[in-house]
Amino acid sequence: MYKPNHKNNFLQLIKARKSVRKYQDRPIAKKELLKCVEAARLAPSASNSQPCRFMIIDDPEVKTRLTRFAFSGVYAVTKWAAKAPVIVVLLAERDLLTNRIGKQITGLHFYLIDAGIAGEHFILQAQDLGIGTCWIGWFSEKGIKKALNLPAKYKPVALIAAGYPVNPKTGRRKRKTLRDIHWFNRIR
Ligand SMILES: Cc1cc2nc3c(=O)[nH]c(=O)nc-3n(C[C@H](O)[C@H](O)[C@H](O)COP(=O)(O)O)c2cc1C
Repeated sequence: MYKPNHKNNFLQLIKARKSVRKYQDRPIAKKELLKCVEAARLAPSASNSQPCRFMIIDDPEVKTRLTRFAFSGVYAVTKWAAKAPVIVVLLAERDLLTNRIGKQITGLHFYLIDAGIAGEHFILQAQDLGIGTCWIGWFSEKGIKKALNLPAKYKPVALIAAGYPVNPKTGRRKRKTLRDIHWFNRIR
């Protein structure tokens, strides 16, 4: 049972996370990766539809094939990720009834929100294990489907590169101020 605490540990974890694009050559143990998937499994989703699947690529041969197809042409700027020991392909089942109804009525793609939440659960758990990650949205969807022979019902919505950071202490990206991003009750 988790007891709420006010020691700021959670905020410290969030503050420590930053995108990592250079990794040690060291593999990530399956047990650690599964812990991250477990964190993602417990994420909330619209109508509890649980549309996300995690395809973990740690076999060098599969990774080479994936990255060749995923980061070709205009996506070549993402080639740095080919050196990550692990690439997670975040898949979403998009044709679920809740998604279709939700989209029709609200205009929102709930599966994308669900994938964002589940992916960040994965990433924060990884951070807690000392594993660096980077969200990747700049990839060829067609290339991934081809490289992995994906069934049509799964849409690759993001990749997560993961590995132990070469330099865990490099600086952080700037953020807007707290004041810039919130209002109480009325827009200032
Ligand atoms: C949905 C999403 C897609 C992203 N795609 C890429 C990407 O394709 N390549 C990349 O190098 N970083 C990518 N990033 C990482 C962002 O550039 C990074 O999160 C942002 O600059 C803030 O830096 P920080 O994560 O170190 O705090 C992505 C982040 C998110 C959330």
